[in-house]
Amino acid sequence: MRKPFIAANWKMNKTMGETGEFINSFIPLVSEAEGVDILIAPPFTCLNEASGLLQKTGIRLAAQNVFYEEKGAFTGEISAQMLLSAGCSDVIIGHSERRQYFSETDEIVNRKIATARKNGLEVILCIGESLEEREADKTFEVLEKQLTDSLKDIDPNGMTIAYEPIWAIGTGKTATPEQADEAHTFIRKWLNNNVKNSDQVRILYGGSVTPENIGSLITKPEIDGALVGGASLNPDSFAKIVLGAKVSS
Ligand code: PGA
Repeated sequence: MRKPFIAANWKMNKTMGETGEFINSFIPLVSEAEGVDILIAPPFTCLNEASGLLQKTGIRLAAQNVFYEEKGAFTGEISAQMLLSAGCSDVIIGHSERRQYFSETDEIVNRKIATARKNGLEVILCIGESLEEREADKTFEVLEKQLTDSLKDIDPNGMTIAYEPIWAIGTGKTATPEQADEAHTFIRKWLNNNVKNSDQVRILYGGSVTPENIGSLITKPEIDGALVGGASLNPDSFAKIVLGAKVSS
């Protein structure tokens, strides 16, 4: 049995003040949510603020990206040690927006995961197919390549994998629980076939998750939680998703 895990990806949203307001409203709303792991990934500029406010709550803090070099002349980049010093325990790597707008390849994702893990950060690796790939019946092929190349020479035990079909992100089009479960089952099989003792690796679903659809997603055996974008920006709706994962699990 894997513990449900609900993660908020705020993307490029919220100032420091807004981060404080969110966290102060959110904490009391999830005081009854033991049994669910909760994580928030604010923008880099709000990590330190969030870290102070989340202390002793058990809520984990993630960055949305990290660079693969340890330090040096890489203007604009952020290292794993910087994230740790800002209070992060986790980092999201390989989000489809990073792949799409910032040309991140599986090879770059692989280097980022290696550096993050070497420095002791927990990793949420995002994978998922585009609409064209799904329509061309290439979903499993794409997932297999992303898993193989992103995890080259990396033991994913201790990591989390987020399945996020690109066509469902920010579009209001959720994958049906059956479509999501089918992809999750494929990922689980890949893990079973390629990694020893990987049954504790959690697989999250991401793409237009809301308080209304979390219940039907989380009851699927291979869906261990959710990575939530839009609906994580409001403390009430994100808390409802957390509590929905608890009720249904
Ligand atoms: P969404 O984003 O919930 O707004 O679809 C999910 C994600 O990109 O992680």
